[in-house]
Amino acid sequence: MRRILRPIKKFVVKITPKYLLETLAEVECTIARRWVSSAHRRLMAIQWSLPSQPEFFDHQIDLFYWWLATRNSLWLERGVFGSLALRGGCVLELACGDGFNARNFYSLRSERVVACDFDPKAIKTAEGKNSASNIEFLLADIRTEMPEGRFENIIWDAAIEHFTPDEIAKIMDNIQSRLTDDGILCGYTIVEKPDGTKSLSHHEYEFKSKEDLLRFISPYFKNVTVFETEYPVRHNLYFWASDGILPFGPGWSEAVTYCR
Ligand SMILES: C[S@@+](CC[C@H](N)C(=O)[O-])C[C@H]1O[C@@H](n2cnc3c(N)ncnc32)[C@H](O)[C@@H]1O
Repeated sequence: MRRILRPIKKFVVKITPKYLLETLAEVECTIARRWVSSAHRRLMAIQWSLPSQPEFFDHQIDLFYWWLATRNSLWLERGVFGSLALRGGCVLELACGDGFNARNFYSLRSERVVACDFDPKAIKTAEGKNSASNIEFLLADIRTEMPEGRFENIIWDAAIEHFTPDEIAKIMDNIQSRLTDDGILCGYTIVEKPDGTKSLSHHEYEFKSKEDLLRFISPYFKNVTVFETEYPVRHNLYFWASDGILPFGPGWSEAVTYCR
């Protein structure tokens, strides 16, 4: 009799209120995860398979669907590497797209973020999905109306390749005049594919190599770091540039203090 009762007792003991609540919550999460993931898969299919193709990616699709489907964490790198350069003061994000990084990487550890893009749909998405009290999203074409001010950080992620070499030079002049003396410019771009085809039709100039990117940035700053990561689908370039301290450079470990 005891032999029969013991396993039953064991089972009965396990069914605590916490066990019940946790099981219910797990079931709810499983249903919610599948739903949110398939909804974002459909959103991506509509946005990227039907004309016309957008110029920015809604990173909530990465968060809820694409990352899990592909196991590719590349989309997070720019936010992580850009965060290493944060100085805690004012940030200007150029060509911010959906504003995901402004909110989820740059705003918490900075006093204020001004994030701009020339696409009204990008700014609408940013305001709708990624707003925060210290972020100002602005509609602005950075070729002609780069926001004024002085910034400790300027971030130019996944967008330098959307400009011609002449435009890049003009934008670099404007970046330089808006950065504080020890401010840091950072950003991300891609290397041109070996067959020379463009990764996105909106790209004006894709960089040939690390050295090719360096020649656009080095004339403006005393210290420049460019480094690469490679994924099956993309060869990536990241850059930090400043007249002051750069991440992992001399003096950086003492300089990391920043939090609002
Ligand atoms: C690939 S998205 C990158 C968005 C975001 N920075 C990110 O890392 O996900 C390129 C962005 O550059 C913006 N862009 C292109 N030309 C621009 C210009 N002249 N002025 C401002 N934004 C521009 C596009 O609207 C688009 O949102």
